[in-house]
Amino acid sequence: MAFSAQDWQRNIYLEGLAGRRTTIPTDPGRLEAVASARMSQEASAYIVGGAGAEQTMISNRAAFDATRIVPRVLRDVSSRSLDIQLFNETVPSPLLFAPIGVLELVHPEADLAVARAARALRLPMIFSNQASIPMEMCAKELGDVMHWFQLYWSKSRDLVASFVRRAEASRCSAIVVTLDTTLLGWRPRDLNLGYLPFLEGKGISQYTSDPVFLQMLQEPDSDPSPPRSLNLPSLQALVSIIHRFPGNSFLGKLRSGLPLKAVRKFIATYSNPATTWEDLSFLREQTKLKILLKGVLHPDDARRAIDHGIDGIVVSNHGGRQVDGSIASLDALPPIVDVVNGRIPVLLDSGVRSGADIFKALALGATAVCIGRPYVYGLAIDGQHGVENVMRNLIAEFELTMALAGCKSVKEIHRDMVRGAQK
Ligand code: FNR
Repeated sequence: MAFSAQDWQRNIYLEGLAGRRTTIPTDPGRLEAVASARMSQEASAYIVGGAGAEQTMISNRAAFDATRIVPRVLRDVSSRSLDIQLFNETVPSPLLFAPIGVLELVHPEADLAVARAARALRLPMIFSNQASIPMEMCAKELGDVMHWFQLYWSKSRDLVASFVRRAEASRCSAIVVTLDTTLLGWRPRDLNLGYLPFLEGKGISQYTSDPVFLQMLQEPDSDPSPPRSLNLPSLQALVSIIHRFPGNSFLGKLRSGLPLKAVRKFIATYSNPATTWEDLSFLREQTKLKILLKGVLHPDDARRAIDHGIDGIVVSNHGGRQVDGSIASLDALPPIVDVVNGRIPVLLDSGVRSGADIFKALALGATAVCIGRPYVYGLAIDGQHGVENVMRNLIAEFELTMALAGCKSVKEIHRDMVRGAQK
């Protein structure tokens, strides 16, 4: 049976009548607070935090707050539909799961729990390049539900080509190239703790499951080795690295030296600040899959993407984790939508926290939005169930907002239904 916002809402009240309150807070502030309290200090810093003074995160929210919906009345909204068309496929609500790395920080099932939730909701999932679970395993969970692979442009083109081949074999229908992370941003919460999950071997499963990457580990090792003093934390990190590397024998893995080498190789190759527009033609030669660019914020870059035959854009500032003081993604959206002029889908993420936010982004021209941190908070609180719950809350609130604003379908949401700084 199709999801109904009213049934979902009614059920929450009826459960309350029977003395059972929802374990997943329905407002974004409490959701973040409850989830964060469940996480280790390091996980919370990594997931909740952003770059610099976190002004970009503040701007993302401020842009949504400054955009106001102007509801219309007396427009029979008794029957409603939320579905959209994305690359000629029907998606039941205008939501996707943004690629989020290192989900093992908050739940042992990590990406698998998200994939199961995505399948239950039939919403597209974008596999992270920094996932905790290899894409093949997640693809199996998703079955025929749309899924894409997010790529960081590595220093090794052979590795890029290998990831793309695996994405094709995993029935991904698109490659999302994230362009805003050619270097890791300056993230004080993590810096203050001296914590980067990859150094513990977390979030590198796409690499350690890759034949080309494993082959690279056989080459002589000139990658810089992090300074290590032997103490309890460094031994714990070593155990974590070995434990996460594929293979059954702990001692065998320790003796081979490969797990540590994998972390060093990953650090040396994972991203490439020399990447330019010319590299995209290499990707185009590798695959017939759709190619989207994630991290576009300037209309000239959107124009250039179209000139390069790109199939879609994700307007994003990476949830404020890269450039502090960046333009809010919602503020960047309208000029990009104007340049694109309907030729390719324009998705948006960064700061989407409610159904009203989804409505505002669609009103300003987004084809759909990607949900980021909120689903990770659901995962931290209650695994797959938590992820599903967070997404259903967002869908329900979006449906009710849409109806109360006088729209029966996503097609009826237009720019003149919002007022704000962008206009
Ligand atoms: C991310 N994001 C991200 N993006 C990407 O392309 N590849 C990745 O591996 C990750 N990893 C990642 C980890 C964590 C902990 C966060 C919070 C974010 C960015 C993500 O796809 C998306 O752009 C943001 O999450 C959107 O911002 P909000 O809505 O979460 O604030």
